[in-house]
Amino acid sequence: MNYRSIKNIGVGMILLWGYSIPISAKNAFEKQCVPCHLKMDISLRKTFMDALLVYGGKENMKAGLAYYFRNPRKDTSVMDEDFIRKNGVKPPMQIDNGVLNKALDQYWQNYTVIGKLH
Ligand code: HEC
Repeated sequence: MNYRSIKNIGVGMILLWGYSIPISAKNAFEKQCVPCHLKMDISLRKTFMDALLVYGGKENMKAGLAYYFRNPRKDTSVMDEDFIRKNGVKPPMQIDNGVLNKALDQYWQNYTVIGKLH
């Protein structure tokens, strides 16, 4: 093994490391949130706006939703009464803290910065 191949392996590892983390992180929201909302036809943009009205800022909303997703209850839901009467609340999520945290960060990013541009 010469210097050049060692260097190539090193560069390859750095590239892989650099790419794999953002890719898996980027997918948290797409994987954990989008499919079910699509299937049930519940707009993630609308739930975002409703949650933002109730929770106010980013940290409060992330903490509130993280708690709600594990402990969904009629009386703490931001959905309107009609919706809850017809559909009930969602099933409690079994989800890793880190993954949920990333998904909520991406939820925030999608519908604040990028969301406003569309
Ligand atoms: C298994 C299906 C499913 C998954 C997975 C899911 N949701 Fe939901 N979500 C629902 C349903 C059904 C409702 C409406 C009932 C309710 O609010 O409990 C809802 C409601 C919400 C609400 C309103 C919360 C409230 O106070 O009622 C928000 C915000 C939301 N989802 C965002 C997300 C985000 C972000 C993710 C990913 C971390 C996610 N959802 C994953 C089905 C799902």
